[in-house]
Amino acid sequence: MAATIILGAQWGDEGKGRVVDYFAEQADFVVRFQGGNNAGHTIVVGDEKLALSLIPSGILYPTCVPVIASGTVIDPKVLLDEMDMVASRGLDPGRVKLSSNAHLVMPFHRKLDAVIERYLGKNLIGTTKKGIGPAYTDKYSRFGIRVQDLFDPKIFAEKVEASLEEKNRILPRVYNTLPMDSEEIIEEYLAYGEQLKPQVTDTSLLLWEAIQEGSEVLFEGAQGTLLDVDHGTYPFVTSSNPTAGGAIVGTGVGPKAIDEIIGVAKAYISRVGTGPFPTELNDEIGDRMIELGGEYGTVTGRRRRCGWLDLLALRYAARVNTLTRIFLTKLDILSAFETIKVATAYESGGNTFDEFPSQQSVLYKCEPVYEELAGWGDDITGARKYDELPQEAQDYIEYIQDAVGVPIGWVSVGPERSQLVEVP
Ligand code: GDP
Ligand code: IMO
Ligand code: MG
Repeated sequence: MAATIILGAQWGDEGKGRVVDYFAEQADFVVRFQGGNNAGHTIVVGDEKLALSLIPSGILYPTCVPVIASGTVIDPKVLLDEMDMVASRGLDPGRVKLSSNAHLVMPFHRKLDAVIERYLGKNLIGTTKKGIGPAYTDKYSRFGIRVQDLFDPKIFAEKVEASLEEKNRILPRVYNTLPMDSEEIIEEYLAYGEQLKPQVTDTSLLLWEAIQEGSEVLFEGAQGTLLDVDHGTYPFVTSSNPTAGGAIVGTGVGPKAIDEIIGVAKAYISRVGTGPFPTELNDEIGDRMIELGGEYGTVTGRRRRCGWLDLLALRYAARVNTLTRIFLTKLDILSAFETIKVATAYESGGNTFDEFPSQQSVLYKCEPVYEELAGWGDDITGARKYDELPQEAQDYIEYIQDAVGVPIGWVSVGPERSQLVEVP
């Protein structure tokens, strides 16, 4: 396990934080490669719960260096606050490394995110309103402002002024909202730059050297495959690439350096925000999944939509990421159900689909075809060995890995660090 990508195989919130925390014990580096503080990764150790949005989940191990690479977008105030938060828990935030090439989320990005959503009305995406989409928009239009710009006050001021000149025409005219003042923003951000300076480095070089030396490097995805801007359910996606390719582009580490790609999937599925969701349950079963699974967003507190496991979506994730193994989380939540359904195909307009459809108008109308499997009923939260799981739970795991064609290496049976089982 020299270089391993750990990523979301569904619509996010699969439990990536807890999975990365598990592997981080053996890792020298944990690297965030895309997204920003739209992510909310939860780790539970004993009675303590840690929710992280920008700092990689390796922070809990003093031997592990958390790296925030160039493909991310960084709200510096959020990062500094998170560094204070981890320091207040006795962890050392001084170890965090931040790429000088990462783009900054500016106050006008947050504002644009909110007003664009309002403008979209009923077609809204249901973003986290953290400014992620507008920050990536500026990046790709080559109008972005990067971490390194904070260290050249003249250039930084010029870039903020140029950007605001554009935004201040758009904000009142298109979105009927007040323009913003560049001076205040420049002063505020240059002060953040001073505070962040010790963390900033060339993370591509750092990781290259680490891999050359045989260090263990984990790449921690945020969001999930179906939220990928290229491979997800566009336009109801995030503005980055949470798929395996994103780890390559977002770090400057070449594809041949990667040894393993682990997809994290819940034993059911959830989604926050709008967009198609074939196996969504708008009934008592869905409500029970939400309550038992604590399915409320870490970042926004929003109620997540829940449904049965979608094997077409998981097979799709296995394909576009070339998953080598799956880590199945939250199996304990399914103990509550007498029988368990999994979607094995879709039907739409008289046609049957065995593969996740790429045409969004088709996906919208798809009805899942379910296979019903026996539940187990017993509490499994105390299981630590595979043979301590009831036969029906083992059958469920084996059914999924056969259907997806990728081995399931681990299942988790509760949020706490130790609540997991290795699958032989
Ligand atoms: P991430 O964004 O993929 O890191 O996932 P989140 O942290 O947003 O959401 C996953 C939630 O499920 C968190 O509250 C975790 O503590 C919790 N969780 C993770 N694994 C398990 C599990 O096996 N069982 C239960 N009951 N909860 C889990
Ligand atoms: P983690 O890393 C689940 C969703 C939002 C919205 C869409 C676009 O915790 O799994 P954005 O603010 O990114 O422009 O919103 O993406 N979304 C997530 N859903 N988990 C996340 O992160 C998410 N990050 C963004 O709800 O539908
Ligand atoms: Mg989350």
